[in-house]
Amino acid sequence: MSKDRRNRAWYGKLDKDGFIHRSWMKNQGFPDHAFDGRPIIGICNTWSELTPCNSGLRDLAEGVKRGVWEAGGFPVEFPVMSLGETQMKPTAMLFRNLLAMDVEESIRAYGIDGVVLLGGCDKTTPGQLMGAASVDLPSIVVSSGPMLNGKWQGKDIGSGTDVWKFSEAVRAGEMTLQDFMAAESGMSRSKGVCMTMGTASTMASLVEAMGMSLPTNAALPAVDARRMALAHLTGKRIVEMVEEDLKPSDVLTRDAFLNAIVANAAVGGSTNAVVHLLALAGRVGVDLTLEDFGLGSDVPLLVNCMPSGKYLMEDFCYAGGMPVVLKQLAEAGCLQNSKTVLGGDIHAYADGAECYNEDVIKTFADPVKPAAGLRVLRGNLAPNGAIVKPSAATDHLLEHEGIAYVFETIEDMKANIDRDDLPVTKDSILVLKGVGPKGYPGMPEVGNMPIPRKLVRDGVRDMIRISDGRMSGTAFGTVILHVSPESEAGGPLALVKTGDRIKVSASNGTLDLLISDDEMALRRADWAPTAPHYTRGYAKLYVDTVLQAEKGADLDFLVGKDTRPVTRESH
Ligand code: FES
Repeated sequence: MSKDRRNRAWYGKLDKDGFIHRSWMKNQGFPDHAFDGRPIIGICNTWSELTPCNSGLRDLAEGVKRGVWEAGGFPVEFPVMSLGETQMKPTAMLFRNLLAMDVEESIRAYGIDGVVLLGGCDKTTPGQLMGAASVDLPSIVVSSGPMLNGKWQGKDIGSGTDVWKFSEAVRAGEMTLQDFMAAESGMSRSKGVCMTMGTASTMASLVEAMGMSLPTNAALPAVDARRMALAHLTGKRIVEMVEEDLKPSDVLTRDAFLNAIVANAAVGGSTNAVVHLLALAGRVGVDLTLEDFGLGSDVPLLVNCMPSGKYLMEDFCYAGGMPVVLKQLAEAGCLQNSKTVLGGDIHAYADGAECYNEDVIKTFADPVKPAAGLRVLRGNLAPNGAIVKPSAATDHLLEHEGIAYVFETIEDMKANIDRDDLPVTKDSILVLKGVGPKGYPGMPEVGNMPIPRKLVRDGVRDMIRISDGRMSGTAFGTVILHVSPESEAGGPLALVKTGDRIKVSASNGTLDLLISDDEMALRRADWAPTAPHYTRGYAKLYVDTVLQAEKGADLDFLVGKDTRPVTRESH
């Protein structure tokens, strides 16, 4: 066994410190040879009953352990903070950076040589990757995998996507509350993440596109026995990666991020991928900007999954999953030659990939939608950028000028959106302030605010909505998000008033408030931030140090990495 592994600074010493590190570990029944210099693999687990999407990760950890032992390593599982997207208030995103800190410091403080990241629910994947990237030990991802397709009244229903639809149908009087409640159990039928192409499956797909997991990791259902086998194989592979010293910085190159951007377009991925990729790039020192996301704008939508299409992740898996998408992107010349955790380049993922259902994974010649990637918008309303997802939008609204109706806060919106006398039409533009990183805080998924009830009753299902917040990856509509600077930071969004005209052009990449510079300056002189709701603890640290959306909403002092060894002992 190699004597120069990182773990030798914990378990290789024949003194008091080595005694302490080994002896206490042995209280779990590990034999002497576990400490003989073999690679020690941390299994970083976000399992939690409060993160139902990750509730299968205990089982998968056992699969990883089998593979690590088989390959001659020593697996040790450890918990980190878990982030249940559907359970946490005010928003799980507030805690993504806290998870990243937990992951980073846990990896750094313990005597491990490599790490397997077990995540799944939306923020757990980026939080774990960000933390691991800042330590830069060999790392690989195993995702929870999606739930089985939702089923209700003989139809497939999709996580999130159909919640938004059913909710609007109830508000329009087209669905009974009884039916609405009955759909709950049919929607979430097994362990796993949302089975639409929401943020969780998007991030798992992009992990595959960046080469940070084994192929097929994204789409295998959580309860499919092949996911357990994938966990086992991942355990074997991480031991080899330690031997090869293959680190996140070798895999997460600029080319890998560019591959993630085009893959996000091809799968109809979540807008949330933008903030997560930007934050991760900041950790590994890759110069990635909002403009780089323009690379995906000409890429067609290939994966016909909700919310942009009609199928679900189980169908995507059976059609061939991400290897088929990557093969098509490679054949179209859209993929860069980036290295993967397999050691070869990303094209190896596509080896042998075959599409078994061309209605689920379409082709470049016959896509779900042409040119479906995210559009970056700029203008005097968003000097530092905003984004919109054309594949989930209504085409004619992507070029639109309308009159703003402004909600100053989320409470204002909730209290008034269903007023019968709300002065809005289908051509109005709804504006929501105070939902950015600092403002909410945590940049929640409220940007896809409901359509006013009086319009829903008239059959309106989409209108332009603008905010400094995010939206769920499962959501749809002509929703302009991540406006930066946010209103709470004094961005022009803070200065919009009901009755102003706003002009949107996705084709030109513009978002403008049609008032004069003088009027803007007058309003600015009158503006002041609101008193912060959070004045202590982590939330205060977050509000004081969070970066804006175009920087990935990381905390300013977490950008970058520190790979120096920890030399001081605990006793
Ligand atoms: Fe956890 Fe969708 S809420 S993956």
